[in-house]
Amino acid sequence: MLYHVSGEFAIRWMTAVLTLTPIFIIFGVTNLYVRQAMGIATAIWSLLHFILFIWAEGFLETFTQVNYIAGFIAIVILIPMLLTSNRKSMAILKANWKKLQSLVYIVIILSLLHIILLDKTWLIYGIIVGLGFIVRIPTVKKKFFEMRKARKKSKSKK
Ligand code: HEM
Repeated sequence: MLYHVSGEFAIRWMTAVLTLTPIFIIFGVTNLYVRQAMGIATAIWSLLHFILFIWAEGFLETFTQVNYIAGFIAIVILIPMLLTSNRKSMAILKANWKKLQSLVYIVIILSLLHIILLDKTWLIYGIIVGLGFIVRIPTVKKKFFEMRKARKKSKSKK
């Protein structure tokens, strides 16, 4: 029950965080505080999920199944991301901060792999994340930016 709830919250927050860039591309809306808060929620729920697992099964059990190992690598990557999800770290790391945060793409792939191998509900998350990747394709992204620009222009004419 606790695995179920914590795992579900972790993947839901992660999927939601990954929709923020497509939302920005399509609607031009973004907010750094919301982004950081959602990122922190993702990492906290994932860590909680793992802590519950260690508590119930023990740490070494993590290395007994491929799906747990995929989840474990995702957690390991999430830790530095969580620790640097603040303005101070952004200022210190500069361009490297963005590089570090873009590791979320590896994290979501590992997390989806974890759930697919466990044979749990994954398709809906896969579709949302997949659509987000399509929106991020440079030519698609450019089309959305141009559409927004044209809409703005026609609005200002009226
Ligand atoms: C070391 C890392 C991890 C371990 C050991 C672990 C372990 C587990 C276990 C034992 C289950 C329950 C399997 C069952 O009911 O048969 C589970 C389910 C799940 N895990 Fe993980 N997990 C890890 C990381 C992650 C991560 C990073 C995510 C996603 C952010 C995640 C998302 C889920 C989801 C969505 C479920 C299915 C919940 C359900 O519908 O029942 N897990 N995990």
